[in-house]
Amino acid sequence: MTPYDTVPYPSAIFRQAQPERMAMVARLHGLNPPDPATARYLEIGGGDGLHAMALAVAFPDASFVNFDLAPSAIARGQRWADAAGITNVRHLVLDILKAADQLEGPFDYIVAHGVYAWVPEVVRAAIPRLIARLLSPDGVAMISYNALPGGYSRMAVRGLLRSHLDPDLPPAEALAAARALLAEFAVPQAQDEPIIAAMRREAEAMQSRPGEVVFHDEMGDCYAPQSIGDVARACAEAGLCYLNESGKGLLRQSFAWDDAPEPEPAALVQQLEALDFAQGRYFRSSLFVHADRAPARRIDAVALGGLWASGHLREEAPGEFVAGDTRIEVADAALAGVLRALGREAPGRIALADLSLGYEHLLALFRLVDERMLDLHAVPAPFTLTPGERPLASPLIRMQIAEGRRVVATLDHRSAEIADPRARAFLALLDGSRDRDALARDFAATGQDGGVTVDAALAMVARGAMLLAERR
Ligand SMILES: C[S@@+](CC[C@H](N)C(=O)[O-])C[C@H]1O[C@@H](n2cnc3c(N)ncnc32)[C@H](O)[C@@H]1O
Repeated sequence: MTPYDTVPYPSAIFRQAQPERMAMVARLHGLNPPDPATARYLEIGGGDGLHAMALAVAFPDASFVNFDLAPSAIARGQRWADAAGITNVRHLVLDILKAADQLEGPFDYIVAHGVYAWVPEVVRAAIPRLIARLLSPDGVAMISYNALPGGYSRMAVRGLLRSHLDPDLPPAEALAAARALLAEFAVPQAQDEPIIAAMRREAEAMQSRPGEVVFHDEMGDCYAPQSIGDVARACAEAGLCYLNESGKGLLRQSFAWDDAPEPEPAALVQQLEALDFAQGRYFRSSLFVHADRAPARRIDAVALGGLWASGHLREEAPGEFVAGDTRIEVADAALAGVLRALGREAPGRIALADLSLGYEHLLALFRLVDERMLDLHAVPAPFTLTPGERPLASPLIRMQIAEGRRVVATLDHRSAEIADPRARAFLALLDGSRDRDALARDFAATGQDGGVTVDAALAMVARGAMLLAERR
């Protein structure tokens, strides 16, 4: 029984931990990573494995292993996989310290998300060695961790909590006491020293996290935020080389630009660590490959032109594009045309090879990934925007709806809230057995159709990246 059995950690999916994203980055560095659609994937400390299951339904020809020390998390994941009929994921109760002997590799993509900074030193040290041993020759691994210096202010608030709270309180009472303390402490005071002001902002941010996350991440026994230098050195000792980041916003930093020479890995990591301290980095999702792969540090133009792009872009005025919180003005007509097309096609993907763009335009698109305007992908969309004869929604989504969950994992690996009872009732019917007449009849029989036609409902579900192409 582990603390994660006493208080379950919330299930989640992570866009930065998608093999297709890891492959996209590796290709830009001139590498030749395995095809994510048929790859072998390993998740280390993946909790109940929702993330691996969301990938598994999108890529049915790939195989997935998720392991975790907490038996209750693994049992939950197995129950969900059984209920959804997902057969290409194995969930295993396993200790990182014993996994090297018990898992049969190799794996093409290995992910340790949210584990590295939250385990004892001996377990942390075992993670790079485990990855190096199990990663296939061209494989890519991701380790995410609380970075420095952001981790320092979090550590300070964690110290505040641990110094005030009775360690013997049962979880629910400990959490309630922590919440009360955070709420009281977060209020700014006129005489605050800079360090206290930073701690109060941290306490404010902590209050918005789910209670289970605060319980483990802030109140658990282990918390050791890492500098990128620490992580890269531990990986180098195990025979792994730092590649880049898979989160947005930092991709550019690991490439050489203009006439600058390509940096050696150790020099690059030192530069990145200096930038982290200058910019106040909190979190990193760092990618690693075997050291002998020696990634190039100049963007591979051919690889870039072979990717797919997607973006939820709106053109609010001619040449003025908005995606989420980001707004840009684009004067270049060709680039604006691409962004317009991406907005029309979203969440669908456009093959850059079909656009006949020159290198400068391709680079402009690459830069927009860091601006959070669009995504680049190593593979075409694993979902369809065109409902077939007998439409089939993701079995994971149907299972999540049957379980009464409001938030589901879409096939473009986003968390989407489905609150509307009409959408929930309709999605539950999309098991690939019904044609449109049967859908209309059974949707009406749910009493939830509310006058929505089958075609309108299908269009909505397709635009939500929830439909699988029917297999031939
Ligand atoms: C903070 S949670 C993160 C869970 C999930 N990866 C995520 O990011 O949401 C840390 C996970 O690591 C697992 N863990 C801790 N020590 C472990 C070990 N020695 N072997 C395997 N899993 C371990 C815990 O059980 C827990 O599920």
